[in-house]
Amino acid sequence: MRRKKIAELLESTDLGSEVTVMGWVRTRRDSKGGFSFLEINDGSTIRNIQVLADDKLPNYATEISKLTTGCSVIVKGVLVESPGKGQKVEVQAIDVKPMGWADPDTYPLQKKRHSLEYLRTIAHLRPRTNTFGAVARVRNALSYAIHTFFQERGFIYLHSPIITGSNCEGAGEMFNVTTLDLQGIEDGKVDFAKDFFGKPANLTVSGQLEAEVYALALGDVYTFGPTFRAEDSNTYRHLAEFWMVEPEMAFYDLKESMDLAEELIKSILAYILKNCKEDLDFFNRSFDRDLIQTIDHTTTKSFERLTYTQAIEILSEVREGFEFPVEWGKDIQSEHERYLCEVVLKRPVVVTDYPKEIKPFYMKVNEDGRTVKAMDVLLPRVGEIIGGSQREDDYETLLSRIKEMNLDPADYWWYLDLRKYGTVIHSGFGLGFERLVQFATGLSNIRDATPFPRAPKSLEF
Ligand code: 4AD
Ligand code: MG
Repeated sequence: MRRKKIAELLESTDLGSEVTVMGWVRTRRDSKGGFSFLEINDGSTIRNIQVLADDKLPNYATEISKLTTGCSVIVKGVLVESPGKGQKVEVQAIDVKPMGWADPDTYPLQKKRHSLEYLRTIAHLRPRTNTFGAVARVRNALSYAIHTFFQERGFIYLHSPIITGSNCEGAGEMFNVTTLDLQGIEDGKVDFAKDFFGKPANLTVSGQLEAEVYALALGDVYTFGPTFRAEDSNTYRHLAEFWMVEPEMAFYDLKESMDLAEELIKSILAYILKNCKEDLDFFNRSFDRDLIQTIDHTTTKSFERLTYTQAIEILSEVREGFEFPVEWGKDIQSEHERYLCEVVLKRPVVVTDYPKEIKPFYMKVNEDGRTVKAMDVLLPRVGEIIGGSQREDDYETLLSRIKEMNLDPADYWWYLDLRKYGTVIHSGFGLGFERLVQFATGLSNIRDATPFPRAPKSLEF
């Protein structure tokens, strides 16, 4: 008989039917009445199904009574009404077969609650905990909601390359890709002509430039894939490998792009409020008592919109408490972002029109010549979740921006070509997917928002 998933069984009203459950034992309790209760989880839901195993079962003494946390089992039994609280149904076992044992003296996940730091050291087993099972399910639902949002609006899903020869963000945060034998290379004498591609290559920091190519042919596109940054920052919101969602829209100006970003966030969060209720209840109970309320507010309140200059004015009235100075021309740090959302405006905030010096070359320069048509969307607790802009669509202006930023125009010839042939107003943005998972789960460290986190000096799995 095919197994039934526990999520489905717990909702079943088919009492008296014979069912097969496969999963991992969370706990075993022996009752004086001559039977054992097994709590089984199979990952389909945060909830366990209770299995009643009678001591008259032939392998009770030899096997069932020896099951411990982490063992895998196949249970055949009858679905019956549960007299216990908290579940409507349970399984009266006809047969319980252990599949894999988990020695209780060495199995790292015992019943007690482990710290998230400890669980990071056993990333191969942590998905079996309530917390990481729930993270995986919420992450999945968020991905689904993102694709649905764009597909329903006629956006084309684009697979942008992972290995690139260009640098989108114009900063030195890239991982090199090479087949050269690094052992034999002396300082500064790398001959890239001998390398695999005959030139330097790196892991992409963003799929934006390639998304622009397709937007200027197909209209509305989006990427959703891994991106890489060799930022040596050990913070609660940075990873070396993270996923980004990057819509790119022809004929959109900055305002239209902001509207889309707000709609996107609201729509995804509304989806999980509706479809991940049990997991969100768990996070709300265990990690952040305001979680569901915060998510709910985000789906209903309109996002505050201010310019960078206005944001700096608000922040410079704050006399103390910031680690980093507030000054026109300097970047807004995460502490400032959170202060704006959490303390001053108490809602998500979109900051626009940043000084051009602190933003990449591709953003459209405003008429004032000092600021660019940039937008950052800030959320409570995680700060910047989205970075985006209207793109510079004028050939000459873009060329001089590339030069100003000390980049080589030859590296961007194809990107410049887009402005030479049939240029159009266009805009786009990038949403950091793990920051979204953080926001949706209430987990404070981004390393818990991705299955196998990559961060400086951390690559165990
Ligand atoms: O603001 P960023 O750097 O923007 C871009 O890369 C643009 N090319 C996107 C675009 O316009 N298509 O990154 C976008 C988002 C950030 O707002 C943040 O949420 C996330 O990506 N992000 C990171 N997330 C985790 N770890 C890191 N090291 C991140 N760096 C950026
Ligand atoms: Mg940014």
